[in-house]
Amino acid sequence: MTKSEKTNIRQSRELKKIGIITSGGDAPGMNAAIRAVTRAAIYNKLEVVGINHGYKGMVDADFRPLSSRDVSGILQQGGTILKTARCAEFRTKEGREKAYQNLQKAEIDALVVIGGDGSFTGALIFSKEFNIPIVGIPGTIDNDIYGTEYTIGYDTALNTVVQAVDKIKDTAASHGRIFFIEVMGREAGLLALNSGIAIGAEVILIPESTKDKEVFERYISKGYKRKKTSGIVVIAEGDKMGGAIKLAEKAQQENPDLEIRVSILGHMQRGGSPTAKDRIVATRIGIAAIEALLDDQQSIMIGLRNNRITHVPFSKAVRLKNSIDTDLLNMQEIINI
Ligand code: F6P
Repeated sequence: MTKSEKTNIRQSRELKKIGIITSGGDAPGMNAAIRAVTRAAIYNKLEVVGINHGYKGMVDADFRPLSSRDVSGILQQGGTILKTARCAEFRTKEGREKAYQNLQKAEIDALVVIGGDGSFTGALIFSKEFNIPIVGIPGTIDNDIYGTEYTIGYDTALNTVVQAVDKIKDTAASHGRIFFIEVMGREAGLLALNSGIAIGAEVILIPESTKDKEVFERYISKGYKRKKTSGIVVIAEGDKMGGAIKLAEKAQQENPDLEIRVSILGHMQRGGSPTAKDRIVATRIGIAAIEALLDDQQSIMIGLRNNRITHVPFSKAVRLKNSIDTDLLNMQEIINI
């Protein structure tokens, strides 16, 4: 099919039916977003189709109609009722062509994609290739998408980490141990940074920091030995010095007198009932996504800036990186005297 034929299909059809998809890592609040998108669409007389298992469901035509009642009782549930996946086939031209044909057959005119920057990269390519309107909703516990100050799931994950580490601190204090705690974030350290501040970690190590080595060595050689009887080192999964296990082994070898333990929080950080903040943001952004589609927007992500709804082109959201507030990083030095 030529590009102009595809354009004609799109132009000859008004927006009647939208598809919703959750893609990439799940995040608490995705269900709240699915509910808001579904209900806002139905409110505006649109039909809604749920696409299961992320882009894989588009390639396999794994679709189901969604009614207002189908999204009842999910607001407080973690995970995603639509399931999610990382789909290799959608990265190929053939896979995307198949997905497009399936959408055509199901008469789906536009998509709402809930996910992270990887999901939006797929959405941007797909939207350009087939001229189909797509609006993105940022959903990832990493809170690392350019153009939005918030991504759905971050607040819940942050509170989950804080609750878990508060418990570990009891053991650290009782036994006089240093705990090396690994927090999710392969490329982004915001979750580690803010959870570290909230639990009073002695050291916070994140991929964005340039002073990690210095801060860590100062703590191990001076800080701990000087006065502390226990300690918490929070490490983002993607820290350049290595993960918690590697760092703890090194520190233990160099300091055999210290009692060091490791705790990797892992996927517990992605689960659980969303906080009130995640439910509210998901609802606001979900409704805004439908409004944007009705307003003929194509290839944009809905974000928040100064707590107001904003539209960010996918091309920017996927190409640019959020920078970390260095004031937050520098707070470590002041607070850990
Ligand atoms: O992007 C969200 C995230 O949880 C990252 O923090 C983490 O590095 C990654 O996903 C883990 O992905 P998976 O569940 O596919 O191992």
